[in-house]
Amino acid sequence: MEKRQLIVRHIGQLLTMDGDGGPSGAFRVWETAAMVVEDNRVSWVGLDQDLPLRYQGMEIDLQGALVSPGLVDAHTHLLYAGDRSYEVRMRAEGRTYLEILQAGGGILSTVENTRSASDEALLHATRRRLSGALLSGTTSIEIKSGYDLTASGELRLLSLIDRLRQEGPWRVVPTAMGAHAVPPEFQGRPGDYLEYLTEEYLPQIGALAQVVDIFCEPGVFPVEQSRRYLKAAQALGLSVKLHIDELADGGGGYLAADLRALSADHCAFTPSKAFHAMAEAQVAAVLLPGTARYLNHGHMADARAMLDADGWIAIASDGNPGSSPTHALSTLMPWAASWLKLTPEEVWTGVTRGGAQALRLPWAGRLQPGAPADFVIWDAADYAYPVYYYGSNLVREVYIGGRRVAVNYGEVF
Ligand code: NIG
Ligand code: FE
Repeated sequence: MEKRQLIVRHIGQLLTMDGDGGPSGAFRVWETAAMVVEDNRVSWVGLDQDLPLRYQGMEIDLQGALVSPGLVDAHTHLLYAGDRSYEVRMRAEGRTYLEILQAGGGILSTVENTRSASDEALLHATRRRLSGALLSGTTSIEIKSGYDLTASGELRLLSLIDRLRQEGPWRVVPTAMGAHAVPPEFQGRPGDYLEYLTEEYLPQIGALAQVVDIFCEPGVFPVEQSRRYLKAAQALGLSVKLHIDELADGGGGYLAADLRALSADHCAFTPSKAFHAMAEAQVAAVLLPGTARYLNHGHMADARAMLDADGWIAIASDGNPGSSPTHALSTLMPWAASWLKLTPEEVWTGVTRGGAQALRLPWAGRLQPGAPADFVIWDAADYAYPVYYYGSNLVREVYIGGRRVAVNYGEVF
């Protein structure tokens, strides 16, 4: 049978992001380029003038627009019910994120809403967030469970994430985060809660998720308890990742390195020595600058320390109802540049190849022959522009597997 061909022509700049040589060499751009998609994969990229004559399929003319890989958002908590808009007032009155959580609010208030929400209600709310993510250029997205905090309820959330994964068109990567907070039933006994999860939850998640996450933070789950829990997960053949140093330096970076975790996320207070240990152990640092700014604690991850250690950084949204209410990673790109002091090339690497590395998705975040044709057409001619112009959705069209799945022309009448 003839292969379905799509020929994308007159691309002003095509970010292929397929350079070799690790984190500092991944960025790659072609000027005045073309790209051929056959079935659902990229089959050729190069200069428009070099497009081989053998390609005769449907053509689209981009008239100089920018094309990038679909963004890879490596850290979200998008499956939840309700919202926490009322916390804005509490924070204005001076209460911190951890104070609200320790008083039974924060994550625990979303847990209450999520436990009582029906499957349909949760699916509906999350589909809307995923559609928003797609419309803003995210094609691959991690979603963590973590708003039920009982073994059976967490498995329900994982099965809903799996349903959303199967539905598509988005590419969803599930993470099991039963250890997201200490539930009211175990108040003040984080160790007992982790033991309960180790017995009743970890052995059951294998069919639904391959990766386990924990909120390893002083005042939530301390390092040594986190170590025991994550080692139990690894003994079952699961991979691990951690939330670390979101609110204070708790030493989680060394634990991530010891365990050879896939990633350590947040790292807002992580010292440069810990970043070196992580880079050495091939642990990616998933940086969430929107969260650090939203919590307004005055600290940003030391992205430069990780890059100097030749480690991978990913930039992700942390989309969740409390510390980062968003689903739109692309709108964070200018802020990632400004707050983390990154170049446009480093920001693009962080939202494409860096995300793919953190999730261990070998073909995501790049456009090269053989890779899935997941790409974004931007309302921009230059790749610096989406890292500069803030607060507006510059995404024009989104393709997944060579199929157009979202358009965003923003017409005004
Ligand atoms: O990454 N720190 C734990 N989890 C999320 C917040 C979740 C919430 O506040 O609902 C985070 O910031
Ligand atoms: Fe998070």
